[in-house]
Amino acid sequence: MLKEVITVSLGERSYPIYIGSGLIGEAGELFGFNGRALILTDSGVPTEYSRAVARAFAGRSEIFTVKEGEGSKSLSTLEEVLCAAANMKLTRKDAIIAVGGGVVGDLGGFAAACYMRGIAFYNIPTTVLSMVDSSIGGKTAVNLGGIKNIVGAFHQPRGVLIDTDTLKTLDERQISAGLCEAVKMAATLDREELERLESAGGIGEITADITRVISRAICLKKAVVEKDERESGLRKVLNFGHTLGHGIEAEAKGALYHGECVALGMLPFCSESVRERLLPLLKRLGLPTEYGGDIELAAELAAHDKKSVGGAVEAVFVNEIGSFEIKALPFGELLTLARAAYK
Ligand SMILES: NC(=O)c1ccc[n+]([C@@H]2O[C@H](COP(=O)([O-])OP(=O)(O)OC[C@H]3O[C@@H](n4cnc5c(N)ncnc54)[C@H](O)[C@@H]3O)[C@@H](O)[C@H]2O)c1
Ligand SMILES: [Zn+2]
Repeated sequence: MLKEVITVSLGERSYPIYIGSGLIGEAGELFGFNGRALILTDSGVPTEYSRAVARAFAGRSEIFTVKEGEGSKSLSTLEEVLCAAANMKLTRKDAIIAVGGGVVGDLGGFAAACYMRGIAFYNIPTTVLSMVDSSIGGKTAVNLGGIKNIVGAFHQPRGVLIDTDTLKTLDERQISAGLCEAVKMAATLDREELERLESAGGIGEITADITRVISRAICLKKAVVEKDERESGLRKVLNFGHTLGHGIEAEAKGALYHGECVALGMLPFCSESVRERLLPLLKRLGLPTEYGGDIELAAELAAHDKKSVGGAVEAVFVNEIGSFEIKALPFGELLTLARAAYK
């Protein structure tokens, strides 16, 4: 059942986001796309989802499955996807459809941006993280040399389909990790939404209300992307928690999920009063708030991230819920803040 349609308004690059339950089989009608499609998924996504999409595009689609995990956001996997598209003889009229989490979304979106200098991309996110955040906004990328998202393109999808039924197979730790991006958006942009998340008893209450939580996060992200599609200013707010978070993600080498690293990455960049509110919320959502890894190395890796400018890293600070400030931070200060936050 279709519950909501949200349109991201970007002139000729505008697109609809369909939200509902049991929608995946309707991808054909909803996207209204007549070409052929490479359906990209990964080995951790239950096959029933990509198969349902293949049935919706019967006779004009093929499923291509990459290995699950962040490691697939690589140039070598990108090459495999591009070869699969070429073997299918996809043309400019055709499309890549990602079915899965942020990994296949980022990889498939970038493959669509590169193949024949750009073909249509559709996204069917199946994790909380990809539903609330990564499937919207057109950022696509792969990692290189341990640096996240350093090779990529802005390539907006033509349509996004969110079938909340797909979350039934997602484990709780992944759900928690995804909710962290919704917390990130509420903490920086929407005081009332943060209060709603705080007032929920726990993760069960939030998942019972997941359609609303997803829809609210999408509306917050959409408003930011519509004002600053290519991250020249405002869109940087979405990097709250990501400066050190990306360093932690690289240092943890797969032991922590992206959303968990963002949770840890938010804490050093808050005022004392904001941290006092985020700590219990993150704990209730099952997210980590203490870091046992090598914080010096994580900070160093963060400083090498592509967003560092002239020895300083740009970071988003939250002094008051629902507001933010972007500051350049010398490496020494980044390390001091990080050490102090997890003592
Ligand atoms: N492009 C953006 O704007 C943006 C924003 C935020 C994050 N990201 C990126 O997103 C990625 C993280 O995305 P993610 O958290 O979705 O991770 P993911 O894509 O790795 O998915 C997590 C795991 O869940 C499995 N899975 C997916 N759907 C499932 C389902 N319905 N049931 C059971 N298992 C399922 C996957 O196989 C995978 O093992 C990172 O690479 C991050 O950099 C991108
Ligand atoms: Zn993120």
